[in-house]
Amino acid sequence: MERAQRIAAKAVRRVLAGATLPAVLAGENDENVADRALVRELAHGTLRFLGQLRAIVRLLAERPLADASVEALLWVALYQLIHTQAPQHAIVDGAVRATARVKRTSAQGLVNAVLRNFLRRRDDLLAAVAREPEARFSYPRWWIDRVRAERPEDYAVVLDAGNARPPLCLRVNVRRISPDDYVSALAAQGHAARRTGAAAVIVDRPRPATALPGYTSGWFSVQDAAAQLAAPLLDAGEGMRVLDACAAPGGKTTHLAELATADLTAIDVDAHRLERVGENLARLGLSARLVAGDATDPAAWWSGVPFERILLDAPCTASGVVRRHPDAKWLRRESDVASFVEQQRRLLDALWPTLAGGGRLLYSACSIFRAENAEQIETFVARHPDASRVPLELPDSFAAVDGQLLPAEVGAEHNHDGFFYALLQKS
Ligand SMILES: C[S@@+](CC[C@H](N)C(=O)[O-])C[C@H]1O[C@@H](n2cnc3c(N)ncnc32)[C@H](O)[C@@H]1O
Repeated sequence: MERAQRIAAKAVRRVLAGATLPAVLAGENDENVADRALVRELAHGTLRFLGQLRAIVRLLAERPLADASVEALLWVALYQLIHTQAPQHAIVDGAVRATARVKRTSAQGLVNAVLRNFLRRRDDLLAAVAREPEARFSYPRWWIDRVRAERPEDYAVVLDAGNARPPLCLRVNVRRISPDDYVSALAAQGHAARRTGAAAVIVDRPRPATALPGYTSGWFSVQDAAAQLAAPLLDAGEGMRVLDACAAPGGKTTHLAELATADLTAIDVDAHRLERVGENLARLGLSARLVAGDATDPAAWWSGVPFERILLDAPCTASGVVRRHPDAKWLRRESDVASFVEQQRRLLDALWPTLAGGGRLLYSACSIFRAENAEQIETFVARHPDASRVPLELPDSFAAVDGQLLPAEVGAEHNHDGFFYALLQKS
């Protein structure tokens, strides 16, 4: 416990200094799978509820804590005390011992006192901090204000949904095995699971993908159910010329290749991330032409023969997927929204001329902010008289308003992330 608390606290501090959580955790090469899972859970959970945890420490510490490592340990321990079932004494003892490893022993008394004080006054403290929006929702103030301004009726539900624990959702590779047979293969190894979409399967108890049957044989990919809508919506037929313009790490490229044998080109500006696309295609027994290039500069990579289908899964704030990436809440700045909007606009404008007449471009973003989604597409259609929006045909149980899917409320039938889709047709 103590070691996991210490590593998780360090990871949280590194995120607050600007690193992404996956990059930080990838640097922790713990041999022990169970320890690695606990560090991951503690770091994710602490970032998920950081607004609340910070506010409690501010109330309980007599003066601002001079030591950032001790403060982060308190956040992790408070996360465990409030949001997990771990035994209280083990959490407090672990945090006190972890303090001794990162700091002089004098800090141990402080950590012990703050945590025991919290346990004594728990209900009052939780009620007190819930009056501050940043602590109530655990998002930066600008983010709360933006969602509240855009959706005054249900902003609280949407923000809370982003703080839920996400399920492990798989996409079955239908070229290798049917979804029903894969659910049976999971059951045979003791993993309860249920189908939740054409090829989507949710595994009841999340575990590393490599521990599930058929990983190396390419029977499945890990992909949220909302992201699994992209390839069917694009509806690329056999032999069509298809471009995946922002492809890495290849979640949607591989789905496109699973659904049809198209003439598929996958581009990404990040050559290193593009390698992941190649690895994922190989594991799943699929293929595509991979190009490391800038999609805003087609002159550098386009042959001039138009594409019949284009997927633009644009870089965005990731505000729809914070339940999987809680670090994004603290890494983003309000000014990033305008930068992403500009980047998306340049991608759309540059790719549109490469689309054939009658062809379709699917724009997607894992965001819930209107500026990146509905507004982006409204202004695009206004700029391009040959572009029109095609109504989306979504499976019945996926509720979308104007292409916007919201992160699933706890207990909803479809447990998916927040996503936006707009299908554009060229006249
Ligand atoms: C949302 S991610 C794509 C996720 C991917 N479609 C999937 O399903 O796995 C956005 C990607 O866009 C890439 N990107 C950003 N700007 C780009 C550009 N100008 N040209 C090509 N790729 C770009 C990033 O490197 C990143 O991999």
